[in-house]
This record gives sequence, structure tokens and C-alpha cells, in this order.
Amino acid sequence: MQTRVMEVDPLEDCRKVYKEAAAVLADGGLVAIPTETVYGLGADALNTAAVAEVFAVKDRPSFDPLICHFANAKGIKDYTDVPAELQDMVDKLAKEFWPGPMTLVLPRKPIIPDIVTSGLPTVACRVPSHEVMRGVARALGRPIAAPSANKFGHISPTSAGAVMKELGGAIPLILDAGACSEGLESTILMPCLDEKGKPAVRLLREGPITREKLRGICRVLKPGKGKTAAEEALPNAPGQLKSHYAPCKPLILWNPKEEFTPQEGVAYGLITYEGDSPLAAQDCWVETMPLSPGSGRLAEAAVRLFAVMRAMDENEAVQVIVAEELPETGLGCAMMDRLRRASAKRGE
Ligand code: TXA
Ligand code: MG
Repeated sequence: MQTRVMEVDPLEDCRKVYKEAAAVLADGGLVAIPTETVYGLGADALNTAAVAEVFAVKDRPSFDPLICHFANAKGIKDYTDVPAELQDMVDKLAKEFWPGPMTLVLPRKPIIPDIVTSGLPTVACRVPSHEVMRGVARALGRPIAAPSANKFGHISPTSAGAVMKELGGAIPLILDAGACSEGLESTILMPCLDEKGKPAVRLLREGPITREKLRGICRVLKPGKGKTAAEEALPNAPGQLKSHYAPCKPLILWNPKEEFTPQEGVAYGLITYEGDSPLAAQDCWVETMPLSPGSGRLAEAAVRLFAVMRAMDENEAVQVIVAEELPETGLGCAMMDRLRRASAKRGE
């Protein structure tokens, strides 16, 4: 299959492009669409055959449900049944963080096909801030089911070029709006009641909406707290599979203050935070790539993380990737989550 790439600049009038992409989706086709977090592989969420194709193209196991993307928060009401006792908190979260990199897992209405939710009674909903994903959803008039546009378990794509490398030849259309501004997948929250019956959320995946940002808006339950027996039986979000977001090469996490002892005959590439750590000063690296050169800004590191992991993976001189541990505050939590999973052995 020939994969067409259409450039799209959200600052211009893009209605023609949105209409064309929506026509491909309405016809059951798949379109890679940018969001502020990562590129998504979009399908019409109500077309079961199209959604099945998403799983096939990604080699994604069917137990791993998809996120539905909406043009606005109002539209979500037609697809979900939020319990009355959680409605205020859901409205507050929506007002605060949508459009934006937050996904809410909510009880679904039957109109959402089973294949989207892997049979779960809930559906993951997001109103992205990226104008292109919202524009296409608006043009389609239905939610767009979209996982990250990579092969299952690989590094998420933060540019159209990365999508092309992952899925080129397998999908008809990629919308190219350049690099993603957040660079890490959305924060996933599941509203629920705590032990005292008060509204709270469970943090299913760390992301750009950090625990710090949630403070004062809602209570974040500690893992395991407030779970019902039925919820215990649910499969985990695979963002929670131990090995995920993985480069093809082995990746080792290392404390930047500790000395690394290289194995003889192995070529190591270093992903460093700022570039000035004792670890970066060692002379055993065939390649060194900083995430936030000089300044050490977590937001800059987050935007670059997946692109740098990809570049290391593609660098033929590098056999093993070493990544510095990052400070676990704010966005650092989500980045360390991704790096830990990337460093877990396949199959774990
Ligand atoms: O930023 C993002 O969230 C990107 C962009 C494209 O929106 N999407 C994304 O999708 O990262 P994906 O499929 O790579 O990850 C979605 C995660 C999975 O870990 C999945 O298990 C979880 O969302 N998920 C989806 N529906 C769920 C549900 N009903 N209950 C619990 N977890 C769910
Ligand atoms: Mg993914």
C-alpha cells in the first residue's frame, strides 16, 4: 500500500484536509493523526472493522483497549454514563485539563463497540489540545479511536517521519503537522470512589498532567486503594505491561553520579539529561545525546525523549543504550516510567 503524507499547518485553514482525512476514516480506512502528546493511529470508533484493522496493523493484542478522541468535552456525554456521584469531579477535571493531555476512563454506553474497549465496561476518553486531531474528529462527527501510531510495544512516534518508519506501507494516510509539543502520552485517570465513598481518581498512567498538577483538583489514590473486586479482575492498562515503549536495542538505566563499567567489545550510546554529569564525562560512549542540553528542563527532555530513543536505536554504531536516571518530580515521573519499561526485558 502506498502511504500518502499530507502536510497540515493548524495555523492555516485546514478544513479541506480535515474533510479528506474524515472521508478516509468514514470509508473504514486508517489515518495517522498528530496530537500534542504523540501521533495516533486513528479509526472511526464506531466502525468495528476499522478498529480491528488498527489492532492488526499494530500487532496489538486484543486485550489492550483504545482511547477515543473527541472534538469537545460535550460530545463525550453521548458515549458515557458517568455516575452522579462522580459527575462534579469529572466536570472539574474536564474544565481544568481539556482540551489537553488527560485521558479519563469512564463507564461507557453500549454504542461504543466492544472491540474498542476490549470488552471492558469503561471507555478511555480524551479531548486533545492539538487542533488537527480535534478538527478531523469534528469533520467525522464521531469519536476517533486512536492508539499511538507505532507497532505494539515500540517507542511512540512524536513526528510524522517516525510514523512512516513504524507503519509506512501499511496505512493509506499520515497527516504531518511536525513534532508533538508534549512528547509523552497522556495521563490516564480513572474516576472512582475512595474508601470513604468520596470521589477520587486512580492514576493508571503517568503523563504530562502530573500529580503536582492534580493536587487541589482531586484526590489521587495510592495504587490498590479503593479498588472493588470487579475492578481487581480487570486487565491492566498495558501502558502497565512491564516491557513497553521499547527500543529494539537493550536499554540500561544508570545513576548519572555512578561509574558505569562497560563490557569489552560492546558499543554503548548514552542518553544524558543535561550532558554534564560524571557519567557523561566517561570516555566509553560511541555516541552521547542530551535530552535538555545545559539547562536541565524536564519539559524539554519530555518533548525530546522518544525522538532521542529512536535516534539511538537507529544509530548503527550503538549496540546498547544507557540512559541516565532522571529526577522523579513533575514530568520526570512519567519519563522514568517510560524508561523503566523500555529497560525491562522483552516478554517480562
Ligand atoms: O497521548 C495518548 O494517550 C496517545 C494519543 C494518540 O492520544 N494515545 C495512546 O494510546 O497513548 P495507547 O493505545 O498507546 O495507550 C492507551 C492506554 C493503554 O495503556 C490502554 O490500556 C489504556 O490506555 N486504556 C484504554 N482504555 C482503557 C480502559 N477502558 N480502562 C483502562 N485502561 C484503558
Ligand atoms: Mg502506545
